[in-house]
Amino acid sequence: MKKLFYNISKLYGTNVRGTFKKGSEMQEISMIENAWMLVENGIVVNLGKHSDPSLAESLKLQNIELVDMKEMEVLPGLVDSHTHIVFAAPRHEEFAMRIEGATYEEIAENGGGILNSARKLQGMSEDELFEQASKRVELMIKHGTTTMEIKSGYGLTVDAELKILRVIKRLKEKFPCTIKATFLGAHAFPAEYKNNQSGYINLIINEMLPVVVAEQLADHVDVFCDKGFFTVDQTNQILQLAAENGLPAKIHANELGLTGGVQAAVKNKAWSADHLEHCEENEIAALKQGFTEEYGGTMPVALPGTSYFLGIPYAPVKQLIQHGLPVALATDFNPGSSPICSLQTIWAFACTQMKMQPVEAFHAITCNAARSMRLENEVGSLARGMRADFFATKTQDAIKGIPYFLGQNHAEIVYIAGNAISL
Ligand code: NIG
Ligand code: FE
Repeated sequence: MKKLFYNISKLYGTNVRGTFKKGSEMQEISMIENAWMLVENGIVVNLGKHSDPSLAESLKLQNIELVDMKEMEVLPGLVDSHTHIVFAAPRHEEFAMRIEGATYEEIAENGGGILNSARKLQGMSEDELFEQASKRVELMIKHGTTTMEIKSGYGLTVDAELKILRVIKRLKEKFPCTIKATFLGAHAFPAEYKNNQSGYINLIINEMLPVVVAEQLADHVDVFCDKGFFTVDQTNQILQLAAENGLPAKIHANELGLTGGVQAAVKNKAWSADHLEHCEENEIAALKQGFTEEYGGTMPVALPGTSYFLGIPYAPVKQLIQHGLPVALATDFNPGSSPICSLQTIWAFACTQMKMQPVEAFHAITCNAARSMRLENEVGSLARGMRADFFATKTQDAIKGIPYFLGQNHAEIVYIAGNAISL
């Protein structure tokens, strides 16, 4: 089946397939005005301007459905490379405590935080978790997100971690969007292992990871390598074993301090180093070093929703870009540090709080985010050979208009593989 989308006032993100943008390239937008796009079997096969002769050629094709986009602007589906949406309950009580002045770390040290979420999740059935997570996936799609990564990490027992990963597997089957799973057993030490950290590392290595690998429940492995959580040595131990089993790394690094997480990410050839609220010269140098190696670098992923919600510093993304690095952005959607489902909101925070230009932030939530999941040949841009994942908006000059008009959902219609999604 072929579909021709026409009457698109502006079609953004028309990069060459496989593009991701570094340094000053992040300011360069590829865009077609008065555009059309031809989709066959869910893939973009041609695109251009209304004045191009190839439009008339396309219109002569047999079995073609014409879709009038009514002068709306069209953007590639957004890519959220870092979420924790399989959780059992919100943490309203901690929200209130933090408003009174308690810090995230104080709450975590007193058995709140991730351990609070783990207790709640352990007692919930797989079916109920699936129902709840499904609603969050729907919410994200409604806001224009068509590719997402989802982590485990609120289980912290063999059974509960596997339960989360099985929920993610069911989400992959249920929804047409692209979903990737990340095993984050190393999210926090359970209370019973507080004085026996190596016992928990052994549990991850000997009992969780082998099942994750055997049942192909994850696409990546993550570790919360930070002050008060997992050390660089523990991180190396887990990630080396993951790599031997063909699982690439993504790391939570430097949210709470300068703890060597970024260097560990680069050393382990991680696909991304996420958070980076604490990021100085040594970290930047390590990231730059990664991009000269043949594995193609560790993408710095900033999570401004977390900085906003916890009142901690924002990652120095402008500095990273000035050093010629690429930057991606994600929601970190989770109940503890970023209860934010929409990359449109993150886009606005990136501009107002981190001083990214709207176009830089647009690339950070599309092609660069795709690159952080090594999906830049499939999603994140609208070009020949890419999946026809996109959303249409009535907001004019959308690249600026979306982050400017904060708090609205600008996605009018969301398409996945060329099909309009009704939720
Ligand atoms: O990315 N930093 C670690 N993990 C999550 C939040 C964990 C939580 O508080 O539930 C994050 O911020
Ligand atoms: Fe996170």
